[in-house]
Parts: sequence; structure tokens; C-alpha cells
Amino acid sequence: EIIGCKIKGIDKEATYRIARDFISKYYLLVELLRFRKYRYSRKEMARLYLMLYGEDHEVRTPSRIDRRYRDLIAIASKFNYDKYPWIKFSYPKWFYEHLSEILGSYDALELLKALNNRTIWLRVNTLKVDVDKAIKLLEKENIVIERDKDLWYMVKVINAPYPINKVEAVRKYLVIPQDKASALVVEALKPDADMLIYDLTAAPGMKTSLIMQLTENKAYVVAFDVSKKRLRVMKHLMKNLGVDFSHLEIILADSRILHMKRKADAVLLDAPCSSSGAIPKDPAVKIHLRRRGRIEYYSKLQENLLSIGLRLCSDKLVYATCSVFPEEGEEIVEKFVNLNIARAVKPSIIGSPGYFKYKIAPLVKRLFPHIHMTEGFFISQLYPI
Ligand SMILES: C[S@@+](CC[C@H](N)C(=O)[O-])C[C@H]1O[C@@H](n2cnc3c(N)ncnc32)[C@H](O)[C@@H]1O
Repeated sequence: EIIGCKIKGIDKEATYRIARDFISKYYLLVELLRFRKYRYSRKEMARLYLMLYGEDHEVRTPSRIDRRYRDLIAIASKFNYDKYPWIKFSYPKWFYEHLSEILGSYDALELLKALNNRTIWLRVNTLKVDVDKAIKLLEKENIVIERDKDLWYMVKVINAPYPINKVEAVRKYLVIPQDKASALVVEALKPDADMLIYDLTAAPGMKTSLIMQLTENKAYVVAFDVSKKRLRVMKHLMKNLGVDFSHLEIILADSRILHMKRKADAVLLDAPCSSSGAIPKDPAVKIHLRRRGRIEYYSKLQENLLSIGLRLCSDKLVYATCSVFPEEGEEIVEKFVNLNIARAVKPSIIGSPGYFKYKIAPLVKRLFPHIHMTEGFFISQLYPI
């Protein structure tokens, strides 16, 4: 039984896929129902979803509401989606309007469409296995993959017969699902052996572990996070991934009020954000972003963290967010550069420049699902002045 609707004869994985797609189409369903001024519950929304998009699953619909659903299905088939493109791709209206102001409506729609689809990337954990062997193991499990041309340890999943977390090599921590854009954040940092690195918002440690992988466990990382629960997951993950704990310190702390005696050689600020760029991985982000206010909350938090990060850094700081909004990217960097607190240097990684209406655009990078087949990411490289 999912979301209150009886679907017979389908397994857990298919149920998960349906629930995920239902969440992704949330705003589309809300608007269709609102159009007819119907009062509705989530359960009724789910039923409508199954009637519109369900395949041959049996949906039990009480006959007394049959007519209402028939009416909605007729509306859905005649709906003028071109007039309401945010409804077509199921986003809050402000989300579409805001991106249209920045990108123009054509590119904004390309982005919204692409955020509805996920490309799965795997990182080979070279602390445990070499790339050729990992590829052979994946192929043995009938996973169709393509080696990435930019990052030697990344592969793109073209087809998998079952969910990626069920793959033996993933279960053994030989390969890890990690988006290519997330790996590019660490590439921008260019970690090296013996470097002291502060990872200010580290949990669950995907990037920390990549720092350790790229330096063959030779960098020294101090990883902070404010969430006890996420740090617990991180410890478990680092152990299983083969990270050397004599080169890693994990500290529960609010990084906005950090005091450290020693400055780090490099600081990573993979900041908490609206996660708007991570919609391909988690469509529920769309529901959390019903109101625009969340962006302001995160941009203030990022400003505070960046200000501390620059004080704790003797050389390079990488500030990144998995957000498609400039308030969590270009605007923050411009503020620090204009105040003469930091200098921005273009990261030497692939990616598009920042949003062109900002002066800082040529010195920062953006990754997009419709261009780079990644999640939406902002990546910048700063030096304290
Ligand atoms: C984008 S996630 C980090 C993901 C991580 N870097 C990785 O690659 O796995 C942001 C993290 O910031 C943490 N966070 C939020 N506010 C914080 C604060 N004031 N101080 C330290 N960590 C914070 C959250 O708990 C969350 O784990």
C-alpha cells in the first residue's frame, strides 16, 4: 500500500519508483485539482496520479468519486501546458519565474526538465580496488557503464538491471554512488599529500573520502559537522570505504563559531543549501521549496560559514553548493570579493561559467543536468586577502 492507494502485485522497488515519480509530479497534481477548486487529501492526489500515470496497476477507486476523477483526467488531457510551463514540469511558480529572470525562459525550461531526470554516476573507490577491476565487476553484474572522459575514477551508469544500492560492488564499498559534480568540487580543491584540510560541513563524508582517495590517505583532514546523526553515518562510511583514521579527525561542531589555533592549507565549504540542484536525486526537495524564503535562510547561513572559512584558511578555499540559485553562489562570492575579503580564481575544472548577469561569472563554475549530465552545482575557488 503506498500513499493510501492499493496497488496490487508490484514489488517494493516499483513502489519506490512510483512514489518518487508521484512526488516529482506533486505541483502538477496540485494545480490540476486547484483548477477545479476541489478539496483534496494527499491520498486523493495519489489516486489521481495513479489514474493519470499508473500503468496497469489496479487502483481501487470508490465509485462515488469516479465522476470527479474522470473530470480531472479530461482536464489533464486538454490542459494548456505551454501556457503554464512550471505546471508541465511540476515546480512552484516562483521557481520557474526566478530561473527565467536569470537564464531566459527557454534555458530555464531546459533546466527544469533536466532536473526531473537522474543520471547515476559511480565513483570507483581506489582505496580498495583499481578502476579496471571495478569495471569488470560491474560488467559481471550486467551493469552497462561508460567511463568518464574527465575524471579517471568516475563511470556513468547507462543501464542497470536492478537498483544501484543492490549492486554487489556498491554493497562492498568498491564503488560509491556519487554525482560527478560532487567529485568536481574536490577536484577544484586539488588536495595533496600532507596538506591540512578543514572540511567545514563534512557529513556524510562523500567529499572527505574523495580527498582521502585522491591523496592515497596522505592528506590530513579535520571534518566538522553540526549534525550528530550525520556524523554517525559518516564514521561508519569512512570505515567501510577504507579511510585511514590516523589522518582524519571528525568533530561535532557548529562551524559558524569555530576557533582553531592553526590555519588550514585548504578549506572545503560544501555548504548547506536549498538543494535545488539535487532534485534529480531527491524530488522531495521540490516540496520543501514551496516558498522562496528558504533560499534567503541558506544564503545567510552560507555567508556566515564562508566568513569563518576564510579566517581559518591560509591559502585556498572551495565554496560550493548543490543549488541552481545565484543567491547561493554568485551573489555570495561577489559580496566577499567586493568587500575585499577574498579573491576569486577560476577553478581548473570542467563546467559552464556562472550566470552571466553577475560580474563574477567568468571566475566561477556551474554544472547543469542538461549540459553536463550532473546535478546542478555551483563551484568557486577563493583566497583570503
Ligand atoms: C551539503 S551537506 C554536506 C555534504 C558533505 N560535504 C558530503 O560531501 O558528503 C551540508 C552539511 O552541512 C551541515 N551543516 C549545516 N549547518 C552547519 C553548521 N552551522 N556547522 C557545521 N555543519 C553544518 C549539515 O549537517 C550537512 O551535513
